[in-house]
Amino acid sequence: MSGDISPLIVLNLKTYENATGYEAEKMALRLQETAEEYNVALTVAAQAADIYRIKEEVPQLTVYAQHIDPYSYGAYTGYITAESILNAGADGTLLNHSERKIDHGILAETINVAQDKGLDVIACADSVLEAEQIAHFGPDYIAVEPPELIGGDVSVTTRPELIIDSVETVRKVDERITVLVGAGVKTYEDVTKAMELKTAGVLLASGITKAENPVEAFKGLIGVK
Ligand code: G3P
Repeated sequence: MSGDISPLIVLNLKTYENATGYEAEKMALRLQETAEEYNVALTVAAQAADIYRIKEEVPQLTVYAQHIDPYSYGAYTGYITAESILNAGADGTLLNHSERKIDHGILAETINVAQDKGLDVIACADSVLEAEQIAHFGPDYIAVEPPELIGGDVSVTTRPELIIDSVETVRKVDERITVLVGAGVKTYEDVTKAMELKTAGVLLASGITKAENPVEAFKGLIGVK
């Protein structure tokens, strides 16, 4: 990474066609090779069904599920358990993404279950208020993403007051929680701005997954040519 910032980059593969199945595995491999070359911390949030194949192909990559449910072994047809993603090799899980919101009672329970099993949790919040509420549940990370900017070309970093408020608010509740921001993040300037505003990094998707060349887009994001 050029400069002296060292952001965490979390790439949400969502259910994009070019980031599903075999394509997810290949994209993960190429991006992790680039991350290692430039010494950048990369995490990928994958569909549950793709975690095992990504970990088989790229064991050193940190892989999260995009969602889990708070249930364990038993009669829970169709749910995604912490045990199943751990068995697949996952390191953690995203929870409460804007596209997969969870009732806060269930979210609190799911965070506990995930952490008890040894999974790290990035809980998403759509506002400073939600970040504050979720901070009381003690996730490892809170990623603040204004829903209206998700998937668009306007970066969350154009709202510095939102980021500053989020960082301060979460820190007041629990200073152990690391804050990330996301939505519309596409450039090195977006990443450096997020870091200047005291976040630990960014959560993004389309800036890389929808780019013509995801590796080049990733390089641009981390400030290398
Ligand atoms: O989870 C990341 C996400 O919701 C932001 O999406 O496409 O705006 O980077 P995007």
